[in-house]
Amino acid sequence: MVSRDSGDLDLLNPARATDPADRTGFTSTGHLPARGTVSGLLRDAHATYATLDDGTVADYIPSLAAADPSRFGISVCGVDGTSFSIGDAQEAFSIQSISKAFTFALVCEAIGHTTVREAVGVNNTGLPFDSVMALELNGGSPRNPMVNAGALVMITLAPGDSAAAKWQFLQEGMSRFAGHRLLLDVDVYESEAATNHRNRALAALLRSYGHMSYDPLLTTDIYTRQCSLLVSAMDLAVMGATLADGGVNPLTHERVVHPSVCRDTLAVMATSGLYQRSGDWLYEVGLPGKSGVSGGIVTVAPGKGGMATYSPRLDPAGNSIRGQHAIRSLSRSLGLNVFASAPEPAPAPGTQTP
Ligand code: DON
Repeated sequence: MVSRDSGDLDLLNPARATDPADRTGFTSTGHLPARGTVSGLLRDAHATYATLDDGTVADYIPSLAAADPSRFGISVCGVDGTSFSIGDAQEAFSIQSISKAFTFALVCEAIGHTTVREAVGVNNTGLPFDSVMALELNGGSPRNPMVNAGALVMITLAPGDSAAAKWQFLQEGMSRFAGHRLLLDVDVYESEAATNHRNRALAALLRSYGHMSYDPLLTTDIYTRQCSLLVSAMDLAVMGATLADGGVNPLTHERVVHPSVCRDTLAVMATSGLYQRSGDWLYEVGLPGKSGVSGGIVTVAPGKGGMATYSPRLDPAGNSIRGQHAIRSLSRSLGLNVFASAPEPAPAPGTQTP
């Protein structure tokens, strides 16, 4: 299939189209099932997994402890802008670590594939998202942009000479992914800013290793803000659909990032989006995903759409339990797993293959 925007690839950002292979526009994707099928499968998954009561709501950021553990919403947005939602899909919650995927995309768009890889890395740490040991074991390298240390370095690389300019770049970029202005949850921001000693320590440690080119405290503050942006599962599905749609928001039709940035972002989401559980996730779900401690998960079926869930009960790695189950089930029933294939039908007897 040839992507719709293949004609303007190198005009968008000439710096990005250094690899001639990035200019072909060929992709490897299909379509979501028919509308009625998607709606029915969403209803079934919601009813099935709403009964799961395992896991606990995050409380290390005090204001997150107030979340209602019974909330559960699922949303799917196709690359044609068609959306399907069930349950608490419009409930607003802070985006938390899911922001890391979109910050990565925006910064990658600005500074390029190779620079972000050299600055942060693209390999899983095998350790929790806030691990200090991971930094120490790797000579101060964050290893990937989906853990807190990597997300902090990505902020230092964001365009802007001041903290205000960097924050504006990120808030406006994330809002373009969602298709409307994303606002700060001031309670969550203040609660996290008052308690984020560990992130401040990570930033200081990165500085000591020479991997933090901007002020560590200002960087941590911008990171805390980006984690406190309010989204719903419906917003996340649109944001995921933008990554699935080669960087074009399917509702506003605005190009947010280059198609090759989507490819790079999905690669790091696949390897590290669910931290040390990313292998289990890929094995069960077969899609790039990103979770956050407030209970959201976004996942992307390239060329088909975005899917997101909200349910605040988490497993010990900080990933929503109902969300993981629902997405696993829907990935299979909607035919989204990128590793699943069916054999090509055998040619009819007597016909020739080209
Ligand atoms: O830095 C933190 O700890 C939070 N603002 C975000 C962590 C998070 O969402 C991890 N996700 N599962």
